[in-house]
Amino acid sequence: MSTSPLSAPDVGVVVLAAGRGTRFRSDLVKVLHRAAGRTLVRHVLEAVRPLGPGQVVVVVGPDADDVRAELDASGLPIRVAVQEEPLGTGHAVQQALPMLDPAIRRVMILPGDTPLLNGDALAGLVAASDDSTVAMLTTRLADPTGYGRVLRDDDGSVAGIVEHADASEQQRNVDEVNAGMYAVPVDVLADAVAHLDDDNAQGEVYLTDIVGLAVDAGTRVVAVDAPADAVAGVNDRRQLAAVSEVLRRRHLDHLMVEIGVTVVDPATTHVDVDVQVGRDTTLLPGTILEAGTRIGDGCVVGPHTHLTGCEVGDRATVHSTRAVDSVVGPSASVGPFAHLRAGTVLGEGGRIGAYVETKNTRVGAGSKIPHLSYVGDADIGSGVNVACGVVTVNYDGQHKHPTTIDDGAFVGCDTMLVAPVTIGRDAYVAAGSVITDDVPPGALAIARARQVVKEGWVERRRAERAGGGGPDSGR
Ligand code: UD1
Ligand code: CA
Repeated sequence: MSTSPLSAPDVGVVVLAAGRGTRFRSDLVKVLHRAAGRTLVRHVLEAVRPLGPGQVVVVVGPDADDVRAELDASGLPIRVAVQEEPLGTGHAVQQALPMLDPAIRRVMILPGDTPLLNGDALAGLVAASDDSTVAMLTTRLADPTGYGRVLRDDDGSVAGIVEHADASEQQRNVDEVNAGMYAVPVDVLADAVAHLDDDNAQGEVYLTDIVGLAVDAGTRVVAVDAPADAVAGVNDRRQLAAVSEVLRRRHLDHLMVEIGVTVVDPATTHVDVDVQVGRDTTLLPGTILEAGTRIGDGCVVGPHTHLTGCEVGDRATVHSTRAVDSVVGPSASVGPFAHLRAGTVLGEGGRIGAYVETKNTRVGAGSKIPHLSYVGDADIGSGVNVACGVVTVNYDGQHKHPTTIDDGAFVGCDTMLVAPVTIGRDAYVAAGSVITDDVPPGALAIARARQVVKEGWVERRRAERAGGGGPDSGR
């Protein structure tokens, strides 16, 4: 199946996103909860985008600044309608109607909580409607609990929708459910929503009643069968987990089939929908890739690697690592057990090894921090070796200070670099040093007490103790 951009300038889209999401038991609006890294409402908007509708109106609740920000982030030209109180889906559409451009002839109404939606299902919905025909998406569910049921006349034509809460025992046995997605001629919609009431089990203004009203007014209503995994709604956190799993699996399938990524264990590999992974990259079990991370070609990522907002160049390896807002250059190697905090930039062929933490640090091409170090606020040139156990002492309790290590320098094991400090090009720092002053290029700096050896010290102490002498004098 392919999604052909319809470019439907006379079709307006109304997305309902003002519900309280009571069943989520959350302080966050339901449509801002995320599935596979993307908010529920953004999933719906991304399904709408390829249709090229003439207008998109989103109904939001009062004080919904966070929802508005998310709508802005989509980059789609969206008009916002405010529903002051969530009195029902029909009431929400009543708020949207006055916002529609006069050029709009048909209105596609979508819930904001159906993240599995795709362009194909929507294209089918629009194609089945016209300027005098209402189309609605339906599907069959093994467990239709909670959904509105589709009522049909003896001749099979759609007669209306009954909500689960209002349905009789017999009606609840119907497994054909309303997906909550409709394409309605604008005049039919205006007429129907004007006749809605809240005389039902939940005391809400049901949008679903427009179907029966349209039928009664003699309008043709067609039901378009959609696959259940395109229209599932998310009303609670169990359903959120279920759709997240479907979305992740879809994205992994795309990466495996269309890109050529090896995913050793899809069940334990969580890749957000906006994460890109290149050809011939292998994702090992326990890998979590989030928030726009981009992985190049021919990489090995994992096992047990968690990357958020990272960029990984071609042929790099990132093993058992946590990294945030960082860059790993081509052919570089990270881990196992590394922690790259925000602002780490590792150059081509560089290495950040076991038990190393970095932050706001550039590590030039071919440079290495192989073991047990903390490096923060540092600018490290190329071909540098930062040996085991080096610490940039970047914080004096009040301010952070920078460390600079120029190209080709060698910093010996267990060295404290007390910032601000610069190690010059090709310079050496002896192991165990506490460096408080800049080291000039090409120099060797040794900053530690010279070793003292006391020959025969043990013998003397034993003799003192046997003679009942005082505590060890140290001589
Ligand atoms: C709705 C349908 C049901 C259908 C199901 C499909 C109604 C009355 N019922 O039920 O037939 O099977 O979707 O998923 O329409 N919203 C508002 N303002 C409100 C109430 C809701 O904007 O006052 C928004 C919600 O944010 C949500 C959407 O409308 O995005 C659907 O509302 P919800 O409460 O989830 O409806 P369902 O009970 O799932
Ligand atoms: Ca719902």
